[in-house]
Amino acid sequence: MVHWRRIQLLLFFWVPLIWICSSSSSDFDQENFLECFNSTTYSKHSLPVSEVVFSNESASFSSLLKHSIRNLRFLSTSSPKPLFLVTPFHESHVQAAIVCAKENDLQVRVLSGGHDYEGLSYLSSSQAPFIVIDLINLRSIDINIKTETALVETGATIGELYYRIAKKSPIHGFPAGSCPTVGVGGHISGGGFGTLFRKYGLAADNVIDAKIVDFNGRIMDRNTMGEDLFWAIRGGGGASFGVILSWKLKLVSLPSIVTTFNVQRTLNQGATHLFQKWQQIAHKLDQDLFLHVTTKVIDQKMTKTTSKTLSLSFTSLFLGSIDSLIPLMDTHFPELGLKRYQCTEMNWIQSILFFADFSTKSPLEILMQRLPSTRSSFIAKSDYVTSPISQSGLEGLWAKLLENENSELIFTPYGGKMSQISELETPFPHRKGSIFGVQYLATWDDSNENERHLRWIREVYSYMEPYVSMAPRGTYLNYRDLDLGRNYGRNTSYEEAKVWGLKYFKGNFERLVKVKTKFDPLNFFWNEQSIPLLYNCEDEARICEVYSDLNSENVQER
Ligand SMILES: Cc1cc2nc3c(=O)[nH]c(=O)nc-3n(C[C@H](O)[C@H](O)[C@H](O)COP(=O)(O)OP(=O)(O)OC[C@H]3O[C@@H](n4cnc5c(N)ncnc54)[C@H](O)[C@@H]3O)c2cc1C
Ligand SMILES: *[C@@H]1O[C@H](CO)[C@@H](O)[C@H](O)[C@H]1NC(C)=O
Ligand SMILES: *[C@@H]1O[C@H](CO)[C@@H](O)[C@H](O)[C@H]1NC(C)=O
Ligand SMILES: *[C@@H]1O[C@H](CO)[C@@H](O)[C@H](O)[C@H]1NC(C)=O
Repeated sequence: MVHWRRIQLLLFFWVPLIWICSSSSSDFDQENFLECFNSTTYSKHSLPVSEVVFSNESASFSSLLKHSIRNLRFLSTSSPKPLFLVTPFHESHVQAAIVCAKENDLQVRVLSGGHDYEGLSYLSSSQAPFIVIDLINLRSIDINIKTETALVETGATIGELYYRIAKKSPIHGFPAGSCPTVGVGGHISGGGFGTLFRKYGLAADNVIDAKIVDFNGRIMDRNTMGEDLFWAIRGGGGASFGVILSWKLKLVSLPSIVTTFNVQRTLNQGATHLFQKWQQIAHKLDQDLFLHVTTKVIDQKMTKTTSKTLSLSFTSLFLGSIDSLIPLMDTHFPELGLKRYQCTEMNWIQSILFFADFSTKSPLEILMQRLPSTRSSFIAKSDYVTSPISQSGLEGLWAKLLENENSELIFTPYGGKMSQISELETPFPHRKGSIFGVQYLATWDDSNENERHLRWIREVYSYMEPYVSMAPRGTYLNYRDLDLGRNYGRNTSYEEAKVWGLKYFKGNFERLVKVKTKFDPLNFFWNEQSIPLLYNCEDEARICEVYSDLNSENVQER
């Protein structure tokens, strides 16, 4: 522990000097970065730099990068590649990567689970060279059942987290997403919802502390970063502010028996009618009852012909036994006609397997696999719905889905705990008033099909406009969408960025901009949808102070 402190202090005092002394040379020499990294970390760790930093010329570069990328749409040879892949084994490696990137005018991208919908954890549209800090080796998980907390390094996936909790206790869990390979770095800093969120809120709502490396290479925890930055990284995305090293999470209590079911109906079997009812009641159900709806295009065999139709799955996690579930469903959703035989009792960790499409009898170790069983190209967009979609609205939507056999929708009910948490509590604003969220998704394998699917999803999004939240039209940050707007450079202004910023954050966007300006005043942590700086400091004295503290040349450079 003492040892670590010393490293932090050393870096803290040493870094600003480098920043001022470095001259920005445009013809970049790869050796400079390597030397800087080596001289910063070598005396502290025996690991040779060649095991931590991989240049784009090194033999394992491509396979390492490929291993961490989840959307095959961005794997093509024409996608921009980083100059270096840095795979830290120690926190000081992250500090050194930041310091040396800054010294050499390299941009930084940070990768935890690699699921970013637009690939922002490993791509950059800027001409400038960039590095990727891949946190894959920083993923220790420490579960403490006595204090009901977990200390999780940000290279871990939520599957690894769930597994570690289950190994320690059958009656504890954590409220985060359904896909086990998602990384805790991006997921939690962007919100993170799943089957427990109507009872316990988002993953971000259950963070009690965090460690972050800022643009000076300094490590801060909740105490030293202060409540503003701690607020921002719980839903505002981590990438705008620094590199989050670890989270301290609050575990939640669960019954030893939970129940799941999955009831499917096609359009011919009255799916639309059921969906109409679902829209009315899903957000009002008991918060122990999560019932979401997904759609799939399937073949329908008629006597002589086969045609396409839609199948809707009503899939549920109930925090209790079948005996308690059936009367609830009979009262609130009798139209579904749920029967005992359609329900299965299990423990919480098996419900994680169930929602991840694994057999509930699979060994739990399957949750430790970092690579999904299949990888494809995908594109998605999202909306929030504040009043039920009309019959004709639904019929038009179903028709759009039938145009694309690779399409899928996920309707997620809100309400419960989500309505009780103030919109200002974290940057994630889609709380009270949202009855459900919807994700539109297309998944495919053939890269020749890219354009067709991009066109299709834009059509769906434009079709849905009259039926969803407006002014601003709400969108989920973790389903990142660059069609909404993007930063073209470090100098994008708050006013320009509002076009997408308000969709993700509503009124919280302004506070995010202020926090950004205070904690990353040079906009070092820039990306295509990072929080912009507040240029106009006239009415914000605190920010004027930060500005006047800065080297004036650097400020003008923006
Ligand atoms: C198949 C699939 C299923 C999903 N299911 C759900 C779900 O059930 N619920 C839900 O809420 N979301 C879900 N998501 C969305 C998911 O939460 C986001 O894509 C999330 O941002 C992924 O985090 P990551 O660490 O895996 O991704 P990355 O691509 O590694 O990171 C995403 C963003 O966060 C930044 N970042 C990552 N780590 C750090 C760090 N340590 N410090 C600072 N910045 C960091 C990256 O730079 C990038 O901007 C799903 C996504 C996919 C692809
Ligand atoms: C790293 O630094 C050490 C100590 O200064 C030196 O002995 C070693 O050769 C350096 N390694 C590389 C790859 O530069
Ligand atoms: C590595 O990056 C440099 C600088 O961008 C580039 O000139 C070189 O062609 C790249 N090498 C490979 C193998 O891609
Ligand atoms: C922002 O910077 C880009 C290039 O870095 C420049 O072309 C553009 O004019 C700048 N925009 C503003 C508003 O200053």
